[in-house]
Amino acid sequence: MERRPFGRTGLEVPVIGMGTWQTFDVRGAAAAERRHVTDAAFETGTFFDSSPMYGEAERVLGATLAGRRDDAIVATKLWATGDDEAERQIEAALGFFGGRVDVYQVHNLAAWPRRLDQLDRWRMRGAVKVVGLTHYSAGAFGELRKAMQDPRVGAVQVPYNPLERTVEEEILPAAAELGLGVIIMRPLGQGRLIRQDVPPDAIAPLRPFGVRTWAQALLKWILSDARCHVAIPATSSASHMRSNAEAGRAPWFGPDERSYVAGLAGRL
Ligand SMILES: NC(=O)c1ccc[n+]([C@@H]2O[C@H](COP(=O)([O-])OP(=O)(O)OC[C@H]3O[C@@H](n4cnc5c(N)ncnc54)[C@H](OP(=O)(O)O)[C@@H]3O)[C@@H](O)[C@H]2O)c1
Repeated sequence: MERRPFGRTGLEVPVIGMGTWQTFDVRGAAAAERRHVTDAAFETGTFFDSSPMYGEAERVLGATLAGRRDDAIVATKLWATGDDEAERQIEAALGFFGGRVDVYQVHNLAAWPRRLDQLDRWRMRGAVKVVGLTHYSAGAFGELRKAMQDPRVGAVQVPYNPLERTVEEEILPAAAELGLGVIIMRPLGQGRLIRQDVPPDAIAPLRPFGVRTWAQALLKWILSDARCHVAIPATSSASHMRSNAEAGRAPWFGPDERSYVAGLAGRL
């Protein structure tokens, strides 16, 4: 799997990571079963994204990392309007993730000026490496663009796939100029883009690029834009994780293949 410098943060990340929204919000036997998905991720890449907004996901992810936390890059989020609740979330996350969070993001820009103050204090204490910002909605990209200027911000997480391309206008160029690490959420359109199967004949022209599945075509479409450092498809399946990881290496698509994949997505 290719690894890329995560902007100017000093971190280097595998280009395919793993999200945990819904897929890791589970209990009991299903939670124990998720260790196999994390095992599959460890075969190739080791970047994981979570949030206190995802129910049980931080706790379940942390449990699957037991004994190998040092080999993982963990990104999670703060999602709180009040300082006390934010501090409680930080202490819980540090408990789940061995006393440190590699990329700590302000979820949906919630109270971001205060949350940046707080996360930066934890960064100075050594418990956080990089402070980041996320938003899922193009309607918030104006504010995100403004917040990205804050010198304490080292990373940004945004949606990008052939049906959601607003970040191409301002966010990706600004992130590259500012040297921010870029994490891509919703690479498979929350699953919507792959629920309808694309026929094997349509995938065949992409075989020289190592692409066998529609999910791989979508992931390679994103990562062929070098401004994107890590895409984080969520999955509850170890075999999906392994197959997704195969999209994380060269050869990358050129403009023709990117247009071809975007055209296929537009027809779904
Ligand atoms: N959605 C948001 O608004 C949002 C917001 C902030 C952050 N994030 C972060 O971004 C991550 C990714 O976004 P997302 O979870 O919304 O959606 P996504 O990664 O675009 O899609 C996830 C869906 O794709 C399916 N899938 C994954 N690999 C597959 C494969 N090879 N073949 C067939 N199906 C496959 C999964 O089902 P299976 O379990 O069956 O594989 C799951 O239902 C989140 O988990 C979270 O960490 C998301």
